[in-house]
Amino acid sequence: AEALRVALAGLGTVGGGVVRLLDANRDLITRRAGRAIEIVAISARDRTRDRGIDLSRFAWVDDTSALATHPDVDVVAEMIGGSDGPALTLARATLAAGRGLVTANKAMLAHHGLELAEAAERAGAALKFEAAVAGGIPVIKGLRDGAAANEIARVYGILNGTCNFILSKMEAEGRDFAEVLAEAQALGFAEADPTFDIDGIDAAHKLSILASVAFGTRPAFGDVVAQGIRHVLGADIAEAAALGHRIRLIGLAESGPDNTGTGGLFQRVHPHLVPLDHPLAHVTGSTNAVVAEGNFVGRLLFQGAGAGEGPTASAVVADLIDIARGEYGPPFAMPAASLTMPRPADSGER
Ligand code: HSE
Repeated sequence: AEALRVALAGLGTVGGGVVRLLDANRDLITRRAGRAIEIVAISARDRTRDRGIDLSRFAWVDDTSALATHPDVDVVAEMIGGSDGPALTLARATLAAGRGLVTANKAMLAHHGLELAEAAERAGAALKFEAAVAGGIPVIKGLRDGAAANEIARVYGILNGTCNFILSKMEAEGRDFAEVLAEAQALGFAEADPTFDIDGIDAAHKLSILASVAFGTRPAFGDVVAQGIRHVLGADIAEAAALGHRIRLIGLAESGPDNTGTGGLFQRVHPHLVPLDHPLAHVTGSTNAVVAEGNFVGRLLFQGAGAGEGPTASAVVADLIDIARGEYGPPFAMPAASLTMPRPADSGER
């Protein structure tokens, strides 16, 4: 079979990881995908930076958006980031050209997911985004495919590794918020703008995507109420511990009645007290974890690395393998036209 020809947009942590993973596991991936997956073209901001990878074997394209119509490309993997700007221009152009798009871009999907899903479906092209939510954890696949037969009552979890790292270090080592944040940035899993992490925006991006897949609603970042961990003090953590709890930043989407009685969707990110007998209390460091409750499968727990080169690349390449096999359907598990508005639940405080 002919190789699946891939263009990479962005060669930061994730893009570099994809090149290394495809090199390291080439034979295994070819056997599993049923054909080779070949990177043919690359575009990134800086051509000269040493990434420890031989880039001379790939065509270098200066204008990122030109990858969309590059003659040798079947699929574009977008790892630039940012909700708008070059990532969105490239995504639109790729789908308009009828090529597949794999993206790690949670902000773009949270804001423009419906539009992109409609464009993909119109073109009969793949739009896959496993890497956008919880890094290496196959939670999109788990909910979209594995739990597809279930009505989901709620999905919730630890969706931001930076916040979890900060909260668990503050707790275990009694350290100061700012100092631990600097360490998370140095380790490379904080966003370029760390206020996205700390203020719960990154978790809200991911929650809006998870909710769409789990509940069949349109991704709607604006409907997520988000509060971050900026104001959590060491004293709060100590107080929670004295009461047998830990503080975790939790994103939660839950179906419930609204004031019209026709059902709604509660989507919220905020610091929660988690009792010590709940598995999420034991998720430490930059690890992510997602719990979903289905009416036939029961409670599912997904846990693993939510960021970092290897795990995120693993998710991107899994999507490429699906496309190589011809295994994809509507991006959000059901046709874009049948996704409903995520009407806010009239739930009061909880
Ligand atoms: N800044 C994100 C986090 C990276 O800390 O979880 C992964 O999306």
